Amino acid sequence: MSSDMFKSIVDRLHQAEKIVFVTGAGISQESGIPTFRGKDGLWRKYDAMKLATIDAFYEDPKLVWEWYEERRRNVLEAKPNAGHLAIAELEKFKSVYVLTQNVDGLHQRAGSTKVYELHGSIITIRCTRCNFKDSITSSFSHLPPACKCGSILRPDVVWFGESLPQDVWHTSMQQAISCDVMIVVGTSLAVSPANLLPAYAKQNGAIVIEINPEETLTSTNMDLSIRSSAARAIPELVAAFQR
Ligand code: APR
Repeated sequence: MSSDMFKSIVDRLHQAEKIVFVTGAGISQESGIPTFRGKDGLWRKYDAMKLATIDAFYEDPKLVWEWYEERRRNVLEAKPNAGHLAIAELEKFKSVYVLTQNVDGLHQRAGSTKVYELHGSIITIRCTRCNFKDSITSSFSHLPPACKCGSILRPDVVWFGESLPQDVWHTSMQQAISCDVMIVVGTSLAVSPANLLPAYAKQNGAIVIEINPEETLTSTNMDLSIRSSAARAIPELVAAFQR
């Protein structure tokens, strides 16, 4: 990326009232959490339709829970990386919203305060019948875990075919259409409706920047696509913003 281009992004960050980040699995890759569709992605090893749909869950709740327990252990051992931390740092100077497809809670642990989890949270567990819902960071001795009401518990994540939490989606759309700069980090934008957010931002005059080591299907629609990793590019941008 040319220094003029870099300088123009930093200038736009200075002029911006509101900055929105749309993030995906790639921003947590440098924290040791595998992506879904990348080279070593989870969907290359596992069948998403057998593990991440409501039907799969009711067909074999133990199998789905074994997979989620493995992912929960990995997430709970992971730490926010320099990319998460730089986004949290930017919040000291600007109004920053994070619309994340990730369920790992690393943005919040890095210190970001306005985080919207489009696809739910792997830390939060809820009952399939009553209104029990809580953050549970310990592992379960018995799978699938049972609620006090007798029904089975599930991770509070959005599975394929399920709708996003309406309040989260509504707020996320509001932020996308009212931001000045949108930075899309570590997502293939393969899944809707999250992949509509950059278009909403662009339609309302924002500049949209992508940070991804690989080209994506939407790279050509971006005002700028930075071929770099989250933990390298975001700290560089925030450091230049602070100079
Ligand atoms: N920094 C930035 N981007 C990275 C990095 C990195 N270090 N490593 C990989 N990437 C990029 C990959 O090139 C890829 O484009 O991150 C992207 C990850 O894409 P996916 O694996 O498709 O993950 P994501 O876009 O978050 O998937 C969306 O699909 O499976 C469902 O619910 C799941 O929320 C997930 C949704």
